[in-house]
Amino acid sequence: MAEFDLIVIGAGPGGYVCAIRAAQLGLKVAVAEGSETLGGTCLNVGCIPSKALLHATHSLREAEENFAKMGLSVKPKVDWAGMRGYKDEVIGQNTSGIEFLFKKNKITWLKGWAEIVAAGQVRVGEETHQAKSIVIASGSEPSTLPGVEVDEKVIVTSTGALALAKIPATLAVIGAGVIGLELGSVYARLGSKVTVIEYLDTITPGMDAEIARTLQRLLKRQGIDFTLGAAVQGASVKGGKATLSYKLRKDDSEHEITADCVLVATGRRPVTAGVAAGPLGLKLTERGQIETDAGFATNIPGVYAIGDVREGPMLAHKASDEGVALAEILAGHKAAVNYDLIPSVIYTTPEVASVGKTQEALKAEGRAYKTGKFNFMGNGRAKAMFAGDGFVKILADKETDRILGCHIIGPSAGELIHEVCVAMEFGAAAEDIARTCHAHPTVSEAVREAAMACGDGPIHA
Ligand code: NAI
Repeated sequence: MAEFDLIVIGAGPGGYVCAIRAAQLGLKVAVAEGSETLGGTCLNVGCIPSKALLHATHSLREAEENFAKMGLSVKPKVDWAGMRGYKDEVIGQNTSGIEFLFKKNKITWLKGWAEIVAAGQVRVGEETHQAKSIVIASGSEPSTLPGVEVDEKVIVTSTGALALAKIPATLAVIGAGVIGLELGSVYARLGSKVTVIEYLDTITPGMDAEIARTLQRLLKRQGIDFTLGAAVQGASVKGGKATLSYKLRKDDSEHEITADCVLVATGRRPVTAGVAAGPLGLKLTERGQIETDAGFATNIPGVYAIGDVREGPMLAHKASDEGVALAEILAGHKAAVNYDLIPSVIYTTPEVASVGKTQEALKAEGRAYKTGKFNFMGNGRAKAMFAGDGFVKILADKETDRILGCHIIGPSAGELIHEVCVAMEFGAAAEDIARTCHAHPTVSEAVREAAMACGDGPIHA
């Protein structure tokens, strides 16, 4: 029986980051992972492969729509098998990178599915291992809808959508959340006729409403259709095609749509089954997440949970930050995650990024705030890249000018947001960003101008 300071269950961005940080701090660490490769959903069937396909198809759109405008004549032709090959290569580079980091940090990979059999004991296959601390980082899986049976061929989750044998002529997407819009964009760019069916009356629930409206308008311009306020009732497959039935909430009228492929993108649920033996009584919340305290401890002594299995947004970077904080706590340090400053990004074109409070949340709180907005159309660099659609919006306290939130739709939004995250982490005022010299010409200047708009006003508007 091997003995470790820490056994982490799951090698996704929560688990592998926790393991590496703990090893850096001198702990003897093992990670149990049953999949053939390390990296979890994010690296194998999530963030990384979807970004590879988004990059490839964005390049295709650039070639089709913007190259001629720049005096470049190219006729791109899609080799779908080649594109999937590129995606698989990117996955391989990333997962083998984690294997290299495990070796470098002397982390033992326990290959197999793990079960906590008693406090301090983890069974993987036939062997039981001893650990002072155990971290559950088993992640999440796509949740499905009643009446919609996933076969990963015609009716698919994000996993199947990343590996379709051929590009569907028609694609129906259930759910206008992050996955629906990102993968819907991939196939729309590849020529599929994409229809997104969403239960709510707006896309991307929880997002700043002005950004959501702008994103919907721009995606519609790219050929994606939206049916909002529609509750999907069920789906059936016949002759390789799916028929999806839905009810419009406003009048209860019933409708059907047929498609070569249906993507179910209605959220994810935590994976907890089989992780801890029944008699241990691992406590779950009503939503099926593992109940933890502020220090990530579960009700079983010495057992902790991080990432998608516990509360909070199901985001890789939130899981990684929890992994780092927990590793540091287990090594005797003080650490915490600032949940008020977790950015979120949607990798559509244009990208969307946000951090902090939305205007709607501030209104609901009755907080006095001011808005500084700047359109990318006023940014020289963005215009040169045919990326003038969108804007930066900074929300600041009306009295103190302290930044409360930032919402960006436009080029490189997912990179730009971090300037504001750092500023907010330091409790900055909008004027602090406005008075910081920004290189010209960069799209970052749009962030500075939005900060200026919280004060006397931007220069280029
Ligand atoms: P989501 O929670 O973002 O969106 C699901 C959507 O489906 C919601 O708009 C919801 O109203 C709708 N819906 C639910 N039931 C429905 C029904 N019966 N009929 C029609 N619409 C229905 O979930 P999604 O997109 O599946 O993503 C799962 C998780 O993965 C999220 O937490 C997301 O943040 C994360 N993720 C993050 C990415 C990123 O950071 N770029 C990329 C992909 C996923």
